Amino acid sequence: MPATDDRMGTPAAKLPDLIHQLDEKEVNRRGFVGMLTGLTVALLAAATPVAGKLLGLSEDRGEASPGRAPIARVEDVPVGKAVTFSYPTPDDPAILVRLESGEFRAYDNRCTHLECPVYWDARDNLLRCPCHEGHFDPTSGKPLAGPPRRPLGGIRISVADGVIYAVGRYEA
Ligand code: FES
Repeated sequence: MPATDDRMGTPAAKLPDLIHQLDEKEVNRRGFVGMLTGLTVALLAAATPVAGKLLGLSEDRGEASPGRAPIARVEDVPVGKAVTFSYPTPDDPAILVRLESGEFRAYDNRCTHLECPVYWDARDNLLRCPCHEGHFDPTSGKPLAGPPRRPLGGIRISVADGVIYAVGRYEA
């Protein structure tokens, strides 16, 4: 007869504990697999905007989608001209430029150095910051000269029925 250990009980007495432990392991394994499946679905949904929206798990990430806002009529912004506007809120100054190609570009008009407002310099064909002579490329928003090292924040543009709209932001 095997020696018994009072702390552990007899082999027969251990059986219910062993079964209980096995059940817990099964539950834990099932729980773990379930959690892993849920996590995988959440990650896929977050990485896939359409699936994320269907499941209500994600918004547009990084590129916030603050909505569509009219800026100006196309005929009011001839080639080589610019207009200022606010987007997405009245506290977010922005600038729209019509390039020589006829295309529009829009940017947050806070300089990426110390946030002075940039303005359109049509003569030199660049966006200029008056504070420390920062220059930005109107085609890309990238810094060309001066202390700024980061591009201006970009604003997506859409044109419909002769009206130019701001439709979102992006990192240039
Ligand atoms: S704030 Fe624009 S260059 Fe310094």
